[in-house]
Amino acid sequence: MILVFKTLTRFKMRKKDIEFMRKGYKGKDSSRLALGLIKPKSKVLSAGCGPGRELEFLKKINCDVVAIDHDKEMIELSQEIEPRAKYVLGEIYEYEKPDSFDYIVCLFNTLDYLRSEKEVIMFLRKSYDNLKRGGKLIITIGPKNWNLRRFFRAFFSFKYNRIGAQSYKKIMSWFGNLAFKINKVRIGDELLVVARK
Ligand SMILES: C[S@@+](CC[C@H](N)C(=O)[O-])C[C@H]1O[C@@H](n2cnc3c(N)ncnc32)[C@H](O)[C@@H]1O
Repeated sequence: MILVFKTLTRFKMRKKDIEFMRKGYKGKDSSRLALGLIKPKSKVLSAGCGPGRELEFLKKINCDVVAIDHDKEMIELSQEIEPRAKYVLGEIYEYEKPDSFDYIVCLFNTLDYLRSEKEVIMFLRKSYDNLKRGGKLIITIGPKNWNLRRFFRAFFSFKYNRIGAQSYKKIMSWFGNLAFKINKVRIGDELLVVARK
C-alpha cells in the first residue's frame, strides 16, 4: 500500500516538475539574470540541463553548448527543444573537460539535487578545472529561510534522497579553498553566485 502511494506521488511530482520546468524562467529573476551574464558565442556547460529551459536561450545567443544530465528522459526532452546542443548522459560531479568552458551554469536549485556534500564539493572542484582561466561558474539557489516552502522542500529532499535546501553560509562554505573569486547577490529569497576562475 505504502509502495503504491509512494510510486503514485512520485509519478505525480515528476510530471508536475517537468511541466513547471518547461515553462521557462518567467518570474524567476535569479535565473534570468544569470543567463543575462553570458556573452554571446561563448562555450557553455549546462550542468543539470533538465528539460532544456536554459538551452533555447543559450543557442539563441549562438553559444556552443554542452548539456549534461543523469536522467535520460530529461535529455530527450531537452533534445526536442534544442537538438543542436551536445548532450552528455552522466553525473555533473564526474564530468571532466579541463580548461574548456567560458561558463558553467547550474541553475534553479540543481545543486539541491545532489545527494551529499561530497558530491557538491566534487562538482565545484570539477567546475574549477573545467573552466578556462577567467571563466565563470554561475549558480542560482534558494530559498534561504526556514519557512514553510523550505520545510516542504526539505521533506521532499529527504524523500528523494537529495541534499536539499541549505543555508547560504553552508553553500558558500562548499567553495572551501578553491581559488575562485566569488561574487554573490540575493535576489528575492534566492542567491545568485558568480565564481570566476
Ligand atoms: C531543477 S532541475 C534544473 C533543470 C534546468 N537547469 C533548469 O534550470 O530548469 C535539476 C536537473 O538536474 C539533474 N541532476 C540532478 N542531479 C544530477 C547529477 N548528479 N548529475 C547530472 N544531473 C543531475 C536532474 O535530473 C534535473 O534534470
